[in-house]
Amino acid sequence: MTAGRFITLEGGEGAGKSTQAARLADELGRRGLEVLVTREPGGSEGAEAVRGLLLGGEVARWSPHSETLLFAAARADHVEKKIRPAIEAGIWVISDRFVDSTRAYQGAQGIDDAAILALHGFGSKGLLPDRTLVLEIGQDEGASRAATRDAGALDRFQSRGPDFHAAVAAGFRGIAEREPERVRLVDASGDAEAVTARLLAELADLLV
Ligand code: TMP
Repeated sequence: MTAGRFITLEGGEGAGKSTQAARLADELGRRGLEVLVTREPGGSEGAEAVRGLLLGGEVARWSPHSETLLFAAARADHVEKKIRPAIEAGIWVISDRFVDSTRAYQGAQGIDDAAILALHGFGSKGLLPDRTLVLEIGQDEGASRAATRDAGALDRFQSRGPDFHAAVAAGFRGIAEREPERVRLVDASGDAEAVTARLLAELADLLV
């Protein structure tokens, strides 16, 4: 049996990742592929429990170091219980966020990229996606979309200021520059259909 592929969607708040994950799954399904959509933090029973710890409470609840370890632990469980078995069964896995979110969000708080990748090597055997699509949207548009979606209830990350979110966006762009084969920046403005078409274009070489 041929192994499935592993695709991740990344980006800042309100970029439309979950909408696009569902749309992409429909498109791939239409091409006869079996698809699993998942998300981080979370995706497996243990990792969803860690999600509650990470997103709830005060901004200062976790230090950047503790937070990085919790994301890595949740990811290790998600990879072992859900992602790897699916890929091995020939399923295409689409994850709404993965290790590049840790590199961007915890990196923006001063955590060293090499340390994040070392933890990922230990926890998740260094699994990297076949393709990572970073949805880029203007910060104001993203913040207002996220606020509408969440009806004003902000999690520990959304409640940070614009400088933090600008650093996160710069982090994603830096990863794309350094790893252009795997990581693609995609314009996420405009209507959902047009964005899905742009995402599919960035997957064309995997779909032949
Ligand atoms: P979500 O809003 O996409 O559900 O993601 C939850 C928040 O968690 C989001 O603000 C980004 C943050 N996050 C990190 O800081 N590091 C990570 O590794 C992941 C997966 C998410």
